Amino acid sequence: HLAPHGPEGGFEHDGPLGTWDMAQLQRGYQVYKEVCAACHSLKYVAFRDLAGLGYTEGQIKAEAASYQVPGINPDTGEATFRAGVPTDYFPSPYPNAVAAAAANNNAIPPDLSLMTKARHHGPEYVYSLLTGYGPIPDELTAQFPDFDTPAGLHFNQYFPNLNLAMAPPITADGQVTYAEGNPEPTIRQMSADVAAFLTWTAEPKMVERRQTGWPVLGFLIFATILAFFAKKQVWSSGS
Ligand code: HEM
Repeated sequence: HLAPHGPEGGFEHDGPLGTWDMAQLQRGYQVYKEVCAACHSLKYVAFRDLAGLGYTEGQIKAEAASYQVPGINPDTGEATFRAGVPTDYFPSPYPNAVAAAAANNNAIPPDLSLMTKARHHGPEYVYSLLTGYGPIPDELTAQFPDFDTPAGLHFNQYFPNLNLAMAPPITADGQVTYAEGNPEPTIRQMSADVAAFLTWTAEPKMVERRQTGWPVLGFLIFATILAFFAKKQVWSSGS
């Protein structure tokens, strides 16, 4: 399969000084919610974590309440569903793995919380996967005449197995409607946005970590210089 590549111009979070593009993370959350959440959970992300994307308490309560999460009926003790609250985590839309597999040609949609860490070049991989569906290329057929995509699977040159059970989730420009002032929701834009959002879910403290690194480096350099002069002084045969 092909090496994954990110959107043209890269991500704002690329490189050691890279930072979040908050507007992009919010758009990516919107794409997750309106498209991916139909099949994928984010079991390590709580609704209250959305505060990190700039959402207010009221907005977070409303977001949480728009999801149904597993709960217990207090009267009967039976398993049931209830509206989410900020301390809940983004649930799977399926009651269990059997139901998830049954709905997806026997493949279980994996949790996406840590997906960009679980795959090499994760953010680029997610972007490439979402934009990489297409017909089987002629070169592949020339080399492997028997290669085919079984019914119910979808060819994607970025997926290591080449055929995957996820149908292209983002299929049309404008599939998600962005608020005024945002870029056009093209397939590529929406894919880049959700890839950026999933980078944040996998490491919400990435920017803080990087920003801590520089003072630490500065201190270490300072301490090294100090140690060098201390050593010189201690070992000098001076008067
Ligand atoms: C797998 C992302 C929407 C069903 C995956 C994988 C990723 C992903 C990264 C893992 C690929 C791998 O293992 O390397 C997304 C994103 C979505 C989205 C970002 C929204 C933009 C959906 C939707 C469905 C779905 C709407 C169901 C209708 C699946 C299934 C798999 C999968 C069944 C397992 C595929 C296999 O192992 O063959 N998705 N997905 N996904 N997704 Fe999605």
